[in-house]
This record gives sequence, structure tokens and C-alpha cells, in this order.
Amino acid sequence: MDKHVLLRDLDVPNIRELAVYEANEGYAAWRKALGSMKPEQVMGVVKDSGLRGRGGAGFPAGVKWSFLPKDVFPRYVVVNGDESEAGTFKDHELIEFNPHQVIEGVMLTSYAVLASTAYIYLRGEFYAPAKMLQKAIDEAYAAGLLGRNILGTSYSLDIYIHLGAGAYICGEETALLESLEGKLGQPRLRPPFPAAQGLYAKPTVINNIETLANVPPIVLNGAAWYRQFGTEKSPGTKIFCVSGRVNKPGNYELSLGSHTIRELIEMAGGTIDGRPVKGILPAGESAPMLPASALDTKLDYESVQAAGSMLGSASFIILDDTVDVVWAARKMVRFFKHESCGKCTPCREGTYWALRVYDKIVSGNGSLQDIDQLSDIANGMLNKCFCLLGEFATSPILSTIKHFRPEYEQFVREHQGGRADGYRDELIRDHAVHVLPEESITDERP
Ligand SMILES: Cc1cc2nc3c(=O)[nH]c(=O)nc-3n(C[C@H](O)[C@H](O)[C@H](O)COP(=O)(O)O)c2cc1C
Ligand code: SF4
Repeated sequence: MDKHVLLRDLDVPNIRELAVYEANEGYAAWRKALGSMKPEQVMGVVKDSGLRGRGGAGFPAGVKWSFLPKDVFPRYVVVNGDESEAGTFKDHELIEFNPHQVIEGVMLTSYAVLASTAYIYLRGEFYAPAKMLQKAIDEAYAAGLLGRNILGTSYSLDIYIHLGAGAYICGEETALLESLEGKLGQPRLRPPFPAAQGLYAKPTVINNIETLANVPPIVLNGAAWYRQFGTEKSPGTKIFCVSGRVNKPGNYELSLGSHTIRELIEMAGGTIDGRPVKGILPAGESAPMLPASALDTKLDYESVQAAGSMLGSASFIILDDTVDVVWAARKMVRFFKHESCGKCTPCREGTYWALRVYDKIVSGNGSLQDIDQLSDIANGMLNKCFCLLGEFATSPILSTIKHFRPEYEQFVREHQGGRADGYRDELIRDHAVHVLPEESITDERP
């Protein structure tokens, strides 16, 4: 593992405590920036580093920051810690393992764009990470690293944590802003983009947790240091979340472009019982599934795209030959149907309809025409949805039919007769999600 940047202190005991973090170059970048760098110099070094957003789209962070209009204040930094994509578990690990690194990244970003308030939006279920992060924020305030006139300068900054309520759509940046403002979490029409009118209609930078955790070492060591890792177009390292049918699921930090998917799976202990890989989901459920023939694809944004998918948040879910692709695709479509916010018709109706067709197939009532029907539904949604969630929902349908059509056909033939073999319990459970027992609902908040 190339744990040079984000997980460099993985083996340092108690790194989450302020004193230990500071003894390991913690807040050195913050002191350097406030002591000797102008905000635009901090922005400049991040721009030169080529750091790309780690939340999904891979947009260069420093370039995004430079879009803020010059003279409009106040302006905000909002940190996206919603982390609701299936198979993604890097951001909360970063918070739990080294919360000060995340906070220092938020501080440097806020200073670079001259924001005096930052909000860290965390997925609703992250009670424990939120507590750890709050403890670290409190320590930083007590040490004079946050608050009024930080380290004797004229710069002041407050950081607040906000917990969401468990909706995948609130990871989409404009729905997140709506939610943060206390409104229903649904995406906004763009333009205006958040850089011009974001939180409370003021200029806003939104970045992912992992993106900002890169900023302290970049500011401390410089852009050239960062660029020694990764490729020219995908500089630096990235945390790859590996899950599914592997022996050692977990987070692996690697230089971008340095390894292949096959090598990543080997690092994750190989597949369970050494079974052959059938499919690879490189970005949770949102990006097209790749077949085993893509195993030698390099792990960077451009190579994964050239192979027919997207690196996204680099959440690799590995399917081996024991996994039923039709079952997996149905499960993913069910997720998107459940998480569709309902604002636009193609996504709201398309995900509902596609799930109905999958249920028909899985319950043993499907026909070969239903496979084409699924493609038609997905193609009818493509490029017509209000936000990317609806587009994402087409990925499991179109990619699995493209690469595994014979398996769909075999499934339809083998299950014909309405027996719902092996799927009955799942169908009943999925359609009865509203009958959760009362005692499973808790109001506990940190
Ligand atoms: C449906 C949907 C869900 C998303 N979920 C997340 C998420 O959980 N975390 C995240 O950082 N970005 C998520 N994004 C991407 C954000 O909209 C945004 O691009 C990102 O926070 C920008 O940060 P970055 O430039 O640092 O990557 C999601 C996007 C969509 C369309
Ligand atoms: S695509 Fe789906 S999630 Fe996005 S606005 Fe439309 S209904 Fe909502």
C-alpha cells in the first residue's frame, strides 16, 4: 500500500489526539499558511498540485475554489461527508482515524477562499464519527487553532457539524445545501452553481472529506511533492474502498495509476475461495459494472473511464461467479427507487417501473421481452433526469444487460413458472419496508 498522504500516520498510536497529531507535523501546514502565506498562495499550491475532488466527479479542487466571485461576502465552505454510496467507507474512517487531519484541511480551505464559517455535513447515521470529530474541533478551539483571531492573526473561523437524516440524495451537493438550510433535501436547478450562489445564496465551496484531507500535506510539502504520486492527469494518492467477495475488505491507499484492479483485489486478499471474478463495480452502484476482462485496467480516472465505467469515489465492489447478476442488478435498482427524491418524473417513475420489471423476472413471471423492456426504461431515463441520481440508476440496468445478457436469458428460462425460488423472502421484505418495528427507531444524537 502507498500510504504516503492520507494514511501516512496509520501506525501512529492515538493520532486522533491533538498532542500526538501536532507531534507528527499536525497543524504545521496551518501554522505555515497563517504565518507566511496569503490566502491566494494556499489556493495556488492546491491548484498546482492538481488535486482532484474525491467525492465522485474528480473536478480539480483549486480550480473550483477560484470560481468564487471576488467581492461577495460572507462565503462558506461546506464539507461533504454524506458518504451514502454503497461500498464507500473511506470518509468516516478518515474522521475516526485522524479527525485533526480533516479539520486542518477544512481550515486551510476556508482560509484560501476567505470563508469564516465552515459546515461539515455528515451522513445521519454517523453518530460515532460525529462525536470524535466534535471532540477534535473542541480541542482545536481550546488550543487557539480555531475561533477568533487564530494564532494572533486577524483571521477567524468557526466550524460546525451537521448531521443529515439518512438520505442518499443529500450527498448531491445542491440537495445537501437545501438540507443544511433546513429544507427538504432535493437538488437545485443549476445555474447558479454553488460557487456563485450556494449556502444561503452566498458563494460556497463544497468538497468531499477525502479531498480536503489531502490539503494539509500539500500545503506543507508543496505541489511538486504531491505530484510525485499518481499520474499527470490524476495526481496524488486515492483511498480505494474494496468490498464484496474478497477476503480482506477495507481501505487501501494507492498512488493513482500505479496498480490495476487485479492487483487491488490481490491486496484485498483475493476473492473468497479463490473464485473467478465475474463483475466489478468501481464506484459503488452509480457507475457501470465492468466484466472480468477489465481486471487489468489501471486505477486512475482516465483508465477506468476508457474501460467503460467511472472511478467516482473508488468504491470497488467485487462480484465473483457465485453472485447472481440479475439479483444484484435488482438490488441496486431497488436502492435507487428507494432513494429517488421524487422531484422529476423520469427518475421517480423510471426507477419504480424498472423495479416492477425486475420483480416480475425474479418472481418467475418474466419473459425475454422484459429484458428489452428494462433497456427501454433505462434509455428513456438517460439524459432526462433532473440530477445525476436518475442517471446513476440506469448504470446497473444497462451495464449488466450489456455484459451479462445470456445470464439474464438463462435466469428468465430457469425461473419461469412463478415460483420465486429463493427470492420470496426478499421480495416480501423489500416491499414491506414501512413496517419497521417501533423500537428500532431511535432519536439518539451526539
Ligand atoms: C446522488 C449523488 C450522491 C452523491 N453523494 C456524495 C457523497 O456522499 N459524498 C460526496 O462527497 N459527494 C457526493 N456526490 C458528489 C457531490 O455532488 C459533489 O460533486 C462533491 O461533494 C464535490 O466534492 P469534490 O469536488 O471534493 O469531489 C454525490 C452526487 C450525486 C449526484
Ligand atoms: S433524478 Fe431522481 S433524485 Fe434527482 S431530482 Fe430527479 S427524482 Fe430527484
